[in-house]
Amino acid sequence: MGAITLSNVTMVTLVCQVGFYGVNCEEECGRCKDDLCSDDDGHCSDGCQIWFIGDLCKEEIALPSLAGSHAFLKRMNESAVAITWTQDPGIPDKHAEFYGYTVAYAEGSGDFTDGASVPHDPALMTQTLIVANVHSHNEYRFEVKVYRKMSREREFGVKSNTVIIESS
Ligand SMILES: *[C@@H]1O[C@H](CO)[C@@H](O)[C@H](O)[C@H]1NC(C)=O
Repeated sequence: MGAITLSNVTMVTLVCQVGFYGVNCEEECGRCKDDLCSDDDGHCSDGCQIWFIGDLCKEEIALPSLAGSHAFLKRMNESAVAITWTQDPGIPDKHAEFYGYTVAYAEGSGDFTDGASVPHDPALMTQTLIVANVHSHNEYRFEVKVYRKMSREREFGVKSNTVIIESS
């Protein structure tokens, strides 16, 4: 009757469950594309899902909002108005490049059309755009739309109040 001996015991490398990495698989993966997250260090081998950045894809480019921000108009002359609005204060400076604003306008009771866009500027609190070719015998409505943008995707958050310029 021989004793049972165990030999050749090798360390078994744990394969983490999808979505976890690190020692004992205790760390949660970021938002990796296709859930491709390295078991060792959490690196996303195929890049990040949209709206996420950083080595581990854990930083979110959150949807911006102009709720509560006040837009207002000033007539410059017969054919131009200036629209001024407060930028979304929730946009972190380091992520400024992913954000911008579009001024939309409507003539009379018509539908809104997107006009010019400007990038978010972390050095400013408010921004102003001059809208030209405004006919003084028409009524116009304006609103400011804020967006986040990454590769070819652009998504709008909550827009500003509507401002109206009446015919004179
Ligand atoms: C009206 O104001 C705009 C913006 O300041 C300017 O570019 C434009 O030349 C002005 N037009 C007239 C007719 O004064």
